Amino acid sequence: MSTFTYSSPFPASFVFGVAAASAQIEGAAFIDGKGESIWDRFARTPGKVAGGDNLDVACDHYHRFDEDFALMASLGVKHYRLSISWPRIYPQGDGAPNQAGLDFYHRLFASMARHGITPWVTLFHWDLPQALEDRGGWTSRVTVDAFARYADTVVKEFRNEVKNWITLNEIRCFTMLGYEFGTKAPGRKESAAVVNQTYHHALLCHGHGVRAVRQFGGAGARVGLTDNCDVSVPVTETPADIAAAKAWFLDKNLHLLGAIHGKGYAQAYLDRVGADAPQVLPGDFDLISLPTDFLGLNVYTATYVRAGRDGQPYEALALPPSYPRADSPWLNLVPQAIYWAPRMCHELYGHKSIFITENGCGYNVEPVVNRETGGEVIDLHRRDYLRNHLREVHRAIADGVPIDGYFLWSFIDNYEWEDGYERRFGIVHCDFATQARTPKLSARYYAEVMRTRTIV
Ligand code: NOJ
Repeated sequence: MSTFTYSSPFPASFVFGVAAASAQIEGAAFIDGKGESIWDRFARTPGKVAGGDNLDVACDHYHRFDEDFALMASLGVKHYRLSISWPRIYPQGDGAPNQAGLDFYHRLFASMARHGITPWVTLFHWDLPQALEDRGGWTSRVTVDAFARYADTVVKEFRNEVKNWITLNEIRCFTMLGYEFGTKAPGRKESAAVVNQTYHHALLCHGHGVRAVRQFGGAGARVGLTDNCDVSVPVTETPADIAAAKAWFLDKNLHLLGAIHGKGYAQAYLDRVGADAPQVLPGDFDLISLPTDFLGLNVYTATYVRAGRDGQPYEALALPPSYPRADSPWLNLVPQAIYWAPRMCHELYGHKSIFITENGCGYNVEPVVNRETGGEVIDLHRRDYLRNHLREVHRAIADGVPIDGYFLWSFIDNYEWEDGYERRFGIVHCDFATQARTPKLSARYYAEVMRTRTIV
């Protein structure tokens, strides 16, 4: 019988952290031998990114990581989720590794260690080497083979500095949005068959990531996927609506979460895609379904679902026009998402260790005020978002859902992909003209949550 109740502090072992990703904060896009990524190319394609913003400098974290880790430490951050830039390690995607790229991450991990911050490293957070895109990108198995070599290299190289590994970030986004809708790099609009093949190749890379960590990660290494599953929230927390929300969840996540838990694609998925099913080679699912140590979930929003009518298993509801949301048009404010996503994964797939690897909100207008006293941003909307979501994380733990950690997106305002620098997700404000960092009110709020392990 668990002694954790609704009024308990977060467990002593619960990991509080912050997150960011290489392409979004590092800058130094063409420095020390780094190769071009698909985002470097996409950002230079007119009309693709708001304001024509590119990643050349971003938060200049490449040159300022020491200062950034000092700031993290001063806020009490002890865990940081970051990603490694594939084109910094393999400028051409494969071939010879770039020693300067490897050296950079050794310096970065050394600085984190000096500041008492534990790394959680994502192998791939969307910055595919352009050279691989030129050979087919995610539509081609060339990328799978190249990723296997990249994962081997990185895990071997950093096995003494890194124990927490995440294979891929948000497969849906870099496949569907990159190859079907074309709103993210590389900006292609392909057929359903090609898009389904990109999912399959991404799943294979996830498998290679797990394999590489098992083979080369050394003692104590753990690994998982970060998925941005489609999340359903039952309209009422009654058996009928919960059952409907579960049916919807299984259905919408069949091709990704469903796949990593199976020994092949489920019949329901194959029936749905028909002749557009991905080509699967013998042995593929031995990799794809390798057991992992945890599941990472990026949770931002959800769909409300209730019991279906006329024999339907569920009914998903459209939101009314005035439903509250952040400035990102997709970011409807549904805090219970962060309760239900992990609970569904625990109950439907049996996950025993779940980390929220991202959660946060983006707004455009966040002026720095009170400059005479050091400056701050009064981001009460973000403070509210955090508090409401942390409440639901806490409730889930009290209900027996095994959530072991929470990483806030993001440590600092950064390059929000096709929304450029306009959309700010940080708890630290970045002035992109001067590179000045100013902790927002939400940073002070989160620091107090981490310090006291309670929702203050
Ligand atoms: C998910 C992605 O992993 C991250 O890169 C992005 O900035 C946030 N969501 C906010 O959109």
